[in-house]
Amino acid sequence: MIWVIDFGSQYTQLIIRKSRELGRDANLMTFEECSEKLKENKEKPQAIILSGGPSSVYTDQNDYSRIFNENIPVLGVCYGMQIIAHYFKGQVEKGSQGEYGKSVVSCLKSESDLPQLSDVWMSHFDEVTNVPSDFEITYKSENGLIAGMICESKKIMAVQFHPEVHHTTNGIDLLNYFFNKLSKADQDWSNESMIKKCSSEFDQVKTDEAVLCGFSGGVDSLVAAQLAYQEIGKKLFCIFIDHGLTRPQDRFQIETLQQNLPFPIKVVDSSKVFLEKLNGLSDPEKKRKVIGVTFIEEFEREVKHLEKENSVKFNYLLQGTLYPDVIESISPHKKDGKSVTIKSHHNVGGLPERMNLKIIEPLKFLFKDEVRIMGQELGLKSEWVNRHPFPGPGLGVRILGEVTPHAVRACKESDQILFEELKNWSLYGETWQAFTVFLPVQTVGVKGDERAYENVICLRMVNSVDGMTATWSRMPFDFLDKVSSRITNEVKGITRVVYDITSKPPGTIEWE
Ligand code: XMP
Repeated sequence: MIWVIDFGSQYTQLIIRKSRELGRDANLMTFEECSEKLKENKEKPQAIILSGGPSSVYTDQNDYSRIFNENIPVLGVCYGMQIIAHYFKGQVEKGSQGEYGKSVVSCLKSESDLPQLSDVWMSHFDEVTNVPSDFEITYKSENGLIAGMICESKKIMAVQFHPEVHHTTNGIDLLNYFFNKLSKADQDWSNESMIKKCSSEFDQVKTDEAVLCGFSGGVDSLVAAQLAYQEIGKKLFCIFIDHGLTRPQDRFQIETLQQNLPFPIKVVDSSKVFLEKLNGLSDPEKKRKVIGVTFIEEFEREVKHLEKENSVKFNYLLQGTLYPDVIESISPHKKDGKSVTIKSHHNVGGLPERMNLKIIEPLKFLFKDEVRIMGQELGLKSEWVNRHPFPGPGLGVRILGEVTPHAVRACKESDQILFEELKNWSLYGETWQAFTVFLPVQTVGVKGDERAYENVICLRMVNSVDGMTATWSRMPFDFLDKVSSRITNEVKGITRVVYDITSKPPGTIEWE
């Protein structure tokens, strides 16, 4: 087992994802948990990875001697590198401007097996200016900064960049080098063990207990439900609350799934209730909260109906929550609250205790691409598991400002046009997520020789692997032209279409 010590970077769980890709399961823990375990001397990991994080070694009071005295192979990433440099009496200094985003490095040990990396992702302010005496520099960045170091006799290496992030080209080779050359950690992770780990979440369900699934028709709840059905069969019931902020394609998908899946899916139309509750609200966080709360209320009411209809009492609520949903809402592994709330996800946070349902989230440690692999392993159709992600609050976070009937209609119609054209041009699979955003600003245009003063639709298409980072999709101009001209011609109240060319970070994928 590999231990990943979390110092608060937004990317820490990606280290786990990448380790698994290399066949090694890894366990995320705080420094305190790690120290405690080493002190008790009951468990010893095959390797430790120190993650990135926002702290500075000069204010860090942790005692790292237990980690470094145990002869455990260690990889330091970003802040982890600074910890190692500081501990072994190298020099860490406040940088003058820091390095954020893409950077180019070169490997100084060209004759070694170390990967010859070039394009990497940096996110740090402090920097290592002198490596400890028995360490060698492995990478330097274009501007001469030390970007990596190694001490083979101690089995310790470190990099200032993030090898776990998709934007570090071939960053996985660096982790592979660490696992194979320095730590020699066992291979213990495969598709089979992934399914086994997720399935074990159902072990708690007793034979006379029933499970309810908040089903959305998206990849996550679909895979969670299919896994549940495999584990608990007829004790699974699915419920789809239509908040009216769904797209035409979502309705179609639900109907298809109802016809093809072996478990029941009850559809409830709650669109009126949601639109009433959202009336007059324009603050993004308030909208998210209201959608979340209303969802729970509607859900609670429908559960009672379902229980009556089926003479059953539900004990568990199944949710398709994934890791990225969790990290950006709360910081489960961060005692000091080091990771800030970026958005409140309505599908995380639990249901009110009065519902008396225990939550099962079998996918909570997985990333989207792993869930897709798992779905196919469980026999689901490729087109179902390869649908673009759609957020729980739906168009509520794609309609900026107030959610009015006009905005909902314009957002739905323009999204449908984008969806149709992506299929017509065989481009659906070329982008990770594609959608339209309604902007409540008015701009001047000309329609049929008349002055128009209407709203704007923004097209957002991004490429990503896991939703944690993303780049805007380079879609063909002719395709963009077609979508734009169809939207301005066919969607009432829209005179202008723009294309969002912001990466994540700094932008998030959704606009709210
Ligand atoms: P952001 O906007 O945070 O989105 O960059 C990352 C991914 O998460 C989706 N997303 C959500 N999914 N409930 C969800 O189930 C939510 O509240 C939510 N907000 C964002 C988003 O569509 C993207 O795929």
